[in-house]
Amino acid sequence: MYICLCAGVTDRQIRELCAERVSTTFPEVCRRLNVARQCGRCAEAAKAAAGLDKKSAAEPASQPGA
Ligand code: FES
Repeated sequence: MYICLCAGVTDRQIRELCAERVSTTFPEVCRRLNVARQCGRCAEAAKAAAGLDKKSAAEPASQPGA
């Protein structure tokens, strides 16, 4: 699904970037994929796709074997 229509970036591209770079920050996602740099409407959806939104941060991380 397209997250940023201005830059033509999908949620998959955002997830793949975050998966290959453990310390990815939202500004880094924006810089590397050019999301949220024009109209800005995609910012919250891009954060959610990256797992960097408040809701995702508040969810407990899954524990292997728990
Ligand atoms: S939809 Fe992403 S900057 Fe416009």
